[in-house]
Amino acid sequence: MPLENRLELPDETPMLRVVPLPSDVNQNGSVFGGWVMSQVDMAGGQTAMRRARGRVATISVDSFLFKSPLVIGDIVSFYADIVSTGKTSIKVAVSVYAERNPENPVVIKVTEALLTYVAIGLDGKKRALPPAD
Ligand SMILES: CC(C)(COP(=O)(O)OP(=O)(O)OC[C@H]1O[C@@H](n2cnc3c(N)ncnc32)[C@H](O)[C@@H]1OP(=O)(O)O)[C@@H](O)C(=O)NCCC(=O)NCCS
Repeated sequence: MPLENRLELPDETPMLRVVPLPSDVNQNGSVFGGWVMSQVDMAGGQTAMRRARGRVATISVDSFLFKSPLVIGDIVSFYADIVSTGKTSIKVAVSVYAERNPENPVVIKVTEALLTYVAIGLDGKKRALPPAD
């Protein structure tokens, strides 16, 4: 999906909506990429946990594209969708949008990422995914 500016957020419920704080800014004045990665991992992980009906661990960050910077004042929404599953693994695509400039609102898709999670038991070892609903 191309990264584009749009006037509205996607028509689905975001897994996470967060407002970055001044402490999350880097030396360039935009939001630190590590902050974005951490929120993306949380949004993807929560989605994987629902499918796994229990604990998961992140095994791989398959791709990450920071297309536009986030700035202080943005309201940041994280949308997470399962793209495939295996025996123990769940691949989740996360799209990140910023709502900016309340006087003349604009919605910008800032980041796209793909991550893989593995269902784990209380022992921290991988376990088979339960059947899908
Ligand atoms: C998650 C963990 C329990 C998996 O155990 P493992 O023995 O390494 O698992 P495997 O190599 O058999 O792979 C398990 C699944 O992950 C998939 N996988 C393995 N390496 C992968 C990679 N590089 N990219 C995508 N998927 C991968 C496998 O295909 C398999 O999927 P499937 O069962 O659906 O076919 C273990 O790797 C682990 O504890 N890792 C650390 C997790 C962690 O701490 N994450 C936070 C990092 S800060």
